[in-house]
Amino acid sequence: LLVELPIAVPDPLWQIVADSRANTQPKKIELVVGVYRDDDGHVPLFRAVHEAELVMAEAARSRPYLGLSGDYEFTRAIARLVLPSVPHENMVEFQTVAGTGALRIIAELIHVAHPSARVLVGSPSYVNHVPIIRAAGLEVVDYRHVDAAGRVDLAAILDAIDVARRGDVILLQGCCHNPTGTDLSPEQWQQIAEHLQRKGVLPFIDQAYYGLGRGLDPDLEGTRLVVAAVPEAFVAVSGSKAFGLYSERVGCALVISQSGSDLTAIRTTLENISRTSYSQPPEHGARLVSTILGDHRLRALWREELASMQRRLSALRSTFTERLRDHGFAPEAADAVGEQHGMFSMLPLTAAQMLALRTNHSVYGTNDGRINLAGLPVGRIDDLATAVVAVSTRSPTKV
Ligand SMILES: Cc1ncc(COP(=O)(O)O)c(C=O)c1O
Repeated sequence: LLVELPIAVPDPLWQIVADSRANTQPKKIELVVGVYRDDDGHVPLFRAVHEAELVMAEAARSRPYLGLSGDYEFTRAIARLVLPSVPHENMVEFQTVAGTGALRIIAELIHVAHPSARVLVGSPSYVNHVPIIRAAGLEVVDYRHVDAAGRVDLAAILDAIDVARRGDVILLQGCCHNPTGTDLSPEQWQQIAEHLQRKGVLPFIDQAYYGLGRGLDPDLEGTRLVVAAVPEAFVAVSGSKAFGLYSERVGCALVISQSGSDLTAIRTTLENISRTSYSQPPEHGARLVSTILGDHRLRALWREELASMQRRLSALRSTFTERLRDHGFAPEAADAVGEQHGMFSMLPLTAAQMLALRTNHSVYGTNDGRINLAGLPVGRIDDLATAVVAVSTRSPTKV
């Protein structure tokens, strides 16, 4: 059976990670994988998580199956955090295997409900978006959502909605866009909401980086605004970045229907999908999150820790932008980097220049120009800026 199996094409991102791991030079800077690191290069454990862990250990709960929809306290807590104004009666909350699992199960649900729905995905997007949508059997419609300088191209997004068919879906990132670092303003979200409503296109919002852009509520504002304006919406929530629980695979799918559709039908469809893949979600990470969100003190501690990560990221970005300018980077390109939010930055560099960054300077980002700024030690900002300017002046940049 397996003899004829072709070798699956590996994700080029993981090849770059492997190359970086093989590079033992002390000057190396690895900025490929999207994890937040502190100045010592560690992925920090939130104190709130550690304390919740102690509470859970003390409670010494038994571990029966959670059920197909997962931990109710967790999914309710996530729904209240992300969409506090949507009544429970208008929403199906479903625990998933991280944000990726939420994206996949929502895509599968859309496919069951409306197999000919197409999903609009603005490029560049998170590398896994298009494969997930296609794996669920849905057609992807590609359009460009940023301009040449790397800023949001609202007209292009609105055009994509306007030419879509009623019942099509648009996949949007709620904040801190991966890989471009762009963010939509509340006014832009409002315009998107109006077009969605008018054209009967459904929003599918990926919320993976809330809290790391402008702050927790501002990062969730666009999602809340769009969901309030349309009859049906889908939100995929990841617990990986905002709680530092990458390996615990914490996630939640929120399916909002204010159109009077049968929520039981939505839930049983989701349950059928999960039953035939992993059956029931894991408990531990979800319980950590519900313990934090359900306790006044731990919740405040978590919010403060998240806010301090966000402040550190903004400071890193502005110092990096300043250093780029100091070293003579094109001012417009430096401004665009400075305006971005979240963990990533999209440098206006070509694939050849990104390769030069890796081979000549041991700085590892992806071929499309993305670097994970959240992985950069403060003491290496100047080295990074020097290397970026050096490769950009050797050959023309994108801008
Ligand atoms: C935009 C986006 N969505 C979803 C995910 C998936 O996150 P998770 O680790 O929770 O599966 C990621 C992870 O990098 C991401 O960047």
